[in-house]
Amino acid sequence: LNALAQPSVPPPAKLIARDALEATARELALSVDSVEDLARTFAAFDGCDLKLTANNFVFADGNPDARIMFIGEAPGAEEDRQGVPFVGPAGRLLDLMLAAIGLDRSDAYITNILPWRPPGNRNPTDAETTACLPFIERHIELARPQILIPVGGTAAKALLNTREGIMKLRGRWLIYATPRMDVVPTRAILHPAYLLRSPAQKRDTWRDLIAIKQRLDEIGDVAT
Ligand code: URA
Repeated sequence: LNALAQPSVPPPAKLIARDALEATARELALSVDSVEDLARTFAAFDGCDLKLTANNFVFADGNPDARIMFIGEAPGAEEDRQGVPFVGPAGRLLDLMLAAIGLDRSDAYITNILPWRPPGNRNPTDAETTACLPFIERHIELARPQILIPVGGTAAKALLNTREGIMKLRGRWLIYATPRMDVVPTRAILHPAYLLRSPAQKRDTWRDLIAIKQRLDEIGDVAT
């Protein structure tokens, strides 16, 4: 009856633990000022249990100074074996998508929300994503791309902090910003693993790639 007068109910221990973990991750991530130090600090972070089952820490590939940064979901089997993101079947399609707009891994920077493979490629849990997100945010701040490309729904939702699905998020320019960084034009695209299963969606992705290329060309014009 008189619920408002009751002492407030403390949050469950699990939530407290998750908040504390996120705070620790954020403190660690903000303590570094270079991509190399971030890689070392993230690799040593023990707050995500995926580390216990993964074979490798998969940090990034390509050029950290590139104008464009692609962020996928998590390593798959081949990425876990090699320690390099996007080197399996989806990665081969991503390379073709890059080539379609005149890019390769020397002028693109590629990473994932999670650096450790979820067992059997299951979807990452909210707790796993929350623990790793401060590191990827710092990664973006340190790489300072001019264009950000979340690859697939999991990356788009995590980075843009939204529940909206990839089909609603793709096809338009969005923005990504942190308190320490100006806004970055952001364009979410369908995941190449999804395109391998649903090739009919390649047409829309092609349109997104053209829009990305146009934006890159515009930025190039401004820079010269
Ligand atoms: N899928 C991803 O999202 N990232 C990879 O690195 C490989 C497959």
